[in-house]
Amino acid sequence: MSDFYSAWLDRSKSNQKKVDEAPRVAKSKDLKWVRTPQDYKAALMIAPETGFPTGGSCLMRAEIPVGWHTGKHFHGEEAIYVESGEGFLILDEKRYDFFPGTILHIPYRSPHQLFNTGNASVGYLSGLAWHLEADVYMGKLEQLEECGENDPNVLANIPQEESQYWPEDGRRISMHQQQHEKSGESKHGATYFLMGRSGKQNGFRATGVAISSIFVDLPHTKSHSHAHPEAYLYALEGDGYSEIGGKRYDWNQGDAVHVPPGMLHHQHFNPFDRDMKELRFEFGVRYWFVDQWKKGYTTVDKHLKATTHMDD
Ligand SMILES: [Fe+2]
Ligand SMILES: [Fe+2]
Repeated sequence: MSDFYSAWLDRSKSNQKKVDEAPRVAKSKDLKWVRTPQDYKAALMIAPETGFPTGGSCLMRAEIPVGWHTGKHFHGEEAIYVESGEGFLILDEKRYDFFPGTILHIPYRSPHQLFNTGNASVGYLSGLAWHLEADVYMGKLEQLEECGENDPNVLANIPQEESQYWPEDGRRISMHQQQHEKSGESKHGATYFLMGRSGKQNGFRATGVAISSIFVDLPHTKSHSHAHPEAYLYALEGDGYSEIGGKRYDWNQGDAVHVPPGMLHHQHFNPFDRDMKELRFEFGVRYWFVDQWKKGYTTVDKHLKATTHMDD
């Protein structure tokens, strides 16, 4: 290419090609686990490093062994879902307890650390916008302490939980599974709004990344067909498949689905006999683009009932 503008034209084409050819499902069974200064065991699911064309976002899965804690660090915003185990988060010196199904919001650049105080390993999912922050020179990531074994003397001096809300500005930090509330408005079998930002925000103020909701799709149904910028789905329960941009992608419990940036039409199908339950992650940059798009969100068909298409 002889000039900068021609290089941009070229980039536009290669971006589109990359999105078209990229994977859409991160399979739980194929994860590459590594030890990091922050986590005893961590694996990227949806991330640029694993070949997904994300909008600067990523989804990581990590484990804290019995009697261990994560490192202590700070960076941009983070959204955490505790899949298994129990313990507590220390955020800005305050304690927030967690159990299976707890969601945690980490405010921008707040130092935080997770402790496993139970008898089973803690498994958690983390949504971050690290790559976006780094590419716009806002990505400060600092390690204050490395992961390791709990010191009983340190644990004994950690105070009890005082509140689920952040003293700094009153925003919500944690929400437990039994606090999830079923919404009256749903384009699925059921919707539980968690951190927002579409739907109820329940006191959270997530801007960069949110665990926005849980969808339940009933046996032998499909979601509506629609288009919007990037979102992730993590299969908490059940198996199914998604059609994204006219192609079918099968997934199982523990897999994560990437609806890429852009406005690709997509639809989720549950052809099986049990409920399909999906955790949804949304990233703030999505709304920056939705505001610029002529139609920010489009629904093609609203039918939840299975049609002949289900049995194809
Ligand atoms: Fe973190
Ligand atoms: Fe969607």
